[in-house]
Amino acid sequence: MPVAQPATIYVLNGPNLNLLGRRQPEIYGRDTLADVATLCAATAADLGMAVVFHQSNHEGEIVDHIHAAREAALGIVINPAAYTHTSVAILDALNAFDGPVIEVHISNVHKREAFRHHSYVSLRADGVIAGCGVQGYDLALRRIATLLA
Ligand code: DQA
Repeated sequence: MPVAQPATIYVLNGPNLNLLGRRQPEIYGRDTLADVATLCAATAADLGMAVVFHQSNHEGEIVDHIHAAREAALGIVINPAAYTHTSVAILDALNAFDGPVIEVHISNVHKREAFRHHSYVSLRADGVIAGCGVQGYDLALRRIATLLA
């Protein structure tokens, strides 16, 4: 009998998040992106899911990952970083994806500059987690599991 494949969730990260842990640690904390990838893998294992984890500093590359997710993933967790506030292209790509999408911000963007208060991605996201530090990724994966159940 074929063994059921675990649900695959794409976890996508936008520009400058490769510097996590070294970039403005007073805002984003000391955990690195590798720590976040490890955390996501542990949460996914706990939930019986698999994660594919990417970071890119390039808008079009993030769009390409979202397109790939159409065939390869049941849900998307995305921290679009600065593209949150600027990218219609990422919004359009997410609108072409059928499964649940959870938007994550490590910092509480609503406590920060006014330009961070608007998110194009929130027009598509099924949920938004902000200000919970890197724990937000764990919460987002758990929410995706609930939405897929
Ligand atoms: C961020 C918040 C964005 O405003 C910012 O541009 C980032 C990271 C966050 O995780 O808090 O790069 O998405």
